[in-house]
Order: sequence, then C-alpha cells, then structure tokens
Amino acid sequence: MELVERYTKRARWFHWLIAVLFLELVISGLLIFVPWINSDTIGTVTRVLHRIGAAILIAAPVLYTLYDWRKTWGFIKEGLTWGKEDLGWLEAAPGYYFGGDPRLMPPQGHSNTGMKLYRVSIFAGSAIFVITGFIMWFLKGVVPSAVFQWCLLLHDVTFIVALCMFLLHFQLAVFHPRMDESILSMYDGKVSGVYAKSHHGKWYDKIAKSNDEENSPEKS
Ligand code: HEM
Repeated sequence: MELVERYTKRARWFHWLIAVLFLELVISGLLIFVPWINSDTIGTVTRVLHRIGAAILIAAPVLYTLYDWRKTWGFIKEGLTWGKEDLGWLEAAPGYYFGGDPRLMPPQGHSNTGMKLYRVSIFAGSAIFVITGFIMWFLKGVVPSAVFQWCLLLHDVTFIVALCMFLLHFQLAVFHPRMDESILSMYDGKVSGVYAKSHHGKWYDKIAKSNDEENSPEKS
C-alpha cells in the first residue's frame, strides 16, 4: 500500500511536547482556579508549576524557530493563507463531519480549513496568554489594579476558548470515524495514499506531481 509522509519525526516530537505542556498548564491552571483545592501549600506549588510550564511552552517554539526558521515561517504562512476552497470547506463542513457525502468537500491542502482555524486561534491565544501572563507575573503592583483585573479576566476567557478548541481538536483527531488515519500520522508520520487523496486532495496532487517530476527520464 502506498504511504505518504505527513509529519516528520521532529514535527511529531515537537507536537507531543507542546501537547504535554499544554495539558500541564490546563491542569495547574484549573487547580489555581478552583478555590476549595487551592490551599496555601497546594496553591503555591501549583503556581510555580504553572509558571515553569508557561516558560517552557514559550521557550520551545522560540528555540524551534531559531533552529529552523523556514519551517516555522512555512507553518505560520500556511495558517494565514486563505482562499476560495476555505469558503467551500466552511460550507461543506457541517454535512461532511456529520456523515454527509464526502464528495461535496472541496479538495484541501496539507492542512484543511479547520486545522488552519485552529492554528490562527493558537497564534491569537498565545499572544493573549503571553501578554496577560507577563503582566500578572512581573507587573503585579506596578500596573493599576484595574489593568491587572482585566488581564486576569482575559487570561481566563482565553483559557476557556483554548480548552474548547483543544477538545474539538482531540475529538476530531482521536474519535471521529472519518479521520481514522489522523492519529496514525502523529504516531509514525504517515497516512495511506487513499486517505491523503480523499482528505487532502490538493496536497496529494502536489506531492504526486513532484514525485513524477523526480522520477521523469530527463531527471535520471
Ligand atoms: C492529547 C492531545 C492531542 C492529540 C491526541 C492531538 C492529535 C493530533 C493529530 C492526530 C494531529 C494530526 C492531524 C492531521 O494531520 O490529520 C494533530 C495536529 C496538530 N495538533 Fe494536535 N493533538 C493534541 C494536542 C494538541 C495541542 C495541545 C495543540 C496546541 C495547542 C495541538 C496542535 C496541533 C497542530 C497545530 C497540529 C497541526 C495541524 C495543522 O496541520 O494545522 N495539538 N494533533
């Protein structure tokens, strides 16, 4: 069976590192939030763990970018590049994800519109978390208390949105019957050609074309 590479080993390791850090921040953030768990000792330890997780979660993409800025730029650019087929996805998505005719879904690139929406929400959410988190961590008592309270509110509201987006991502990646090879692609990096063609037709055509050019007699 033809297999197609979707994610390199480095991309997969990086994804799982981000996933673990994100979950650590979700758990420690919830513990800080819930008053009856938040005794003095637990609260202090959790706050330290939350800050350590946040610092690593910020440092990891920065280091990745320094190591391979082209990959990072490609990732950002793809997330911000939108076209006609994205409107087609938005129109077809409700039917498609609830079991409708898959042929109504326009061919998608390496990332479909839903994945790009998730990326954009990650970019926006990260910016809000970093700015509000920085103010709450380092500028407590320096900024007016109204600014501090707004940061707290914005941090919490962004957390609720981020958690909802994550749960959607998790459900699609792990449980949705139509995405049955998705989790395999984050495990060993590959999906079948049939899956690539049916779920990411535009991307599949592009790699098939470049493979044909690679193997053409003029090249050899
Ligand atoms: C246990 C938790 C998670 C699971 C099981 C999971 C699963 C997956 C899978 C299977 C894919 C491949 C999608 C495909 O190409 O079909 C993927 C991609 C991705 N995941 Fe996760 N993920 C998790 C957590 C996260 C978290 C916490 C984030 C970020 C906050 C994240 C961000 C991404 C991104 C940006 C992609 C690439 C999608 C694209 O091409 O735009 N994931 N994930």
